[in-house]
Amino acid sequence: MKVIKAELEKVAVHEEQYPPEDIYEFAFAGRSNVGKSSFINAMLNRKNLARTSSTPGKTRTINFYRVNDDLRLVDLPGYGYAKVSKSEKSTWSGIINEYLEVRENLLEVILLVDIRHEPTAQDLQMFEYIIDSGYSGIVIATKADKISRGQYSKHVSTIAKKLGIKNKDMIIPFSSEKKDLVEEMWEIFEDIVKH
Ligand code: GTP
Ligand code: MG
Repeated sequence: MKVIKAELEKVAVHEEQYPPEDIYEFAFAGRSNVGKSSFINAMLNRKNLARTSSTPGKTRTINFYRVNDDLRLVDLPGYGYAKVSKSEKSTWSGIINEYLEVRENLLEVILLVDIRHEPTAQDLQMFEYIIDSGYSGIVIATKADKISRGQYSKHVSTIAKKLGIKNKDMIIPFSSEKKDLVEEMWEIFEDIVKH
């Protein structure tokens, strides 16, 4: 798909601030610093429309990116960032849970994990929620440029095992630096919209 128009439509914390449920949404969940905002930038072919940072905890709101006035990519706040207070952590999970529970036009929730690391207990919890909610269970293994291609399958197996995924094709190694799979990812998303 060619991205002709991409804009940050809305920055929200609670339901009353969300944009209308008029077009489908794909939401991206994962640990802080895993590369959610970078993934969205790569998909939109924009350098820093979704603000990224090497400091974890950058995205603390739900950011709705409207693409071609046709669908939205939704950047969720990252979880698992150690250096925030307990109350702040529960606020974050509240923000994510509220969105996941109420959003009727949410077509997929896609989990991002770092290809180099075994998923955490929180990743597993998020993934189980995704499966229990009836979503496809696509996992994007980020920062794929940090390992060699020859190592992909070993790392994908570790992720599959931890998350209980039988079909390893559901785990897609992706590099927001190389951006080589952007077109394929759009095809996957478009197929989901059509079905
Ligand atoms: P929060 O907003 O804190 O939840 O983080 P995030 O998941 O949005 O991560 P973000 O996209 O800000 O990326 C975090 C860091 O990882 C940045 O320094 C990015 O440049 C880097 N990064 C993200 N994706 C990739 C990738 O595919 N390859 C490499 N080499 N670095 C990446
Ligand atoms: Mg972010």
